[in-house]
Amino acid sequence: MEDGALSLLEVRGLSKRFGGLLAVEGLDLTVADGEMVGLIGPNGAGKTTVFNLLSGFLAPDAGEIRFRERRLGGLKPHDICRLGLARTFQIVRPFARLSVLDNVKVAALARHPAMADALAAARAVLERVALVDRASELASSLTLADRKRLELARALATEPTLLLLDEVMAGLNATEIEAMVRLIGAINAGGISVLLIEHNMRAVMSLSHRIIVLSFGEKIAEGTPRAVATDRRVIEAYLGDEYVHPAAH
Ligand SMILES: Nc1ncnc2c1ncn2[C@@H]1O[C@H](COP(=O)(O)OP(=O)(O)OP(=O)(O)O)[C@@H](O)[C@H]1O
Ligand SMILES: [Mg+2]
Repeated sequence: MEDGALSLLEVRGLSKRFGGLLAVEGLDLTVADGEMVGLIGPNGAGKTTVFNLLSGFLAPDAGEIRFRERRLGGLKPHDICRLGLARTFQIVRPFARLSVLDNVKVAALARHPAMADALAAARAVLERVALVDRASELASSLTLADRKRLELARALATEPTLLLLDEVMAGLNATEIEAMVRLIGAINAGGISVLLIEHNMRAVMSLSHRIIVLSFGEKIAEGTPRAVATDRRVIEAYLGDEYVHPAAH
């Protein structure tokens, strides 16, 4: 994104320690209005911890998070969601004994307190993620691919400005990944900014405008997918020699 573009999310010096482990250290991160940013790095690099900090599930030890020019310090997850910052969970956690529709309706109630409105909004979201055929099934009966879509639907139903997606493609087959890439692309094209944690390199590289690479809690690179994919430090810390960016030939 060009300098001067409006920053939706501005994070400065974010740090989180678990006992002796520095899970996130001095992280600066921005997401501009309309942008899709990839957050990648090895297992245990601190990616999910960043999401937990941004969404208010964990309190930072240091640093500042500004979302739409508001400081999020001290706000609860529910308040942050209401401001327009929604996240999915790496381990999906729907209400297993509720139907797909009811799961999404519960999320939609955050914006539409009247039940009939929440129901209509939930149906519209299920259409959008192509889950409407499963609306009356129990969440527990869904395949992994559909549970990932439901997780996305629940986040979308809160009508976010910024969506944090934590490995929504993990465990999916190639066809399912392709469909998810299209869906996320369409969501972003519809005006929702996205911060995307993803281990599938083809997917994250093709979707992201910009990529941030974490390793042991620290940002080791940031730039276009092409620049990051050819960065020596990133190859050594994470990519290995297996991933070759299409534009790097
Ligand atoms: N609540 C917690 N208490 C203690 N340690 C934690 C906690 N959450 C995360 N950690 C540790 O912090 C480090 C970063 O974990 P995190 O889950 O953020 O990594 P990640 O980048 O999301 O990894 P992955 O790609 O495997 O999902 C890891 O060493 C992890 O074991
Ligand atoms: Mg994680």
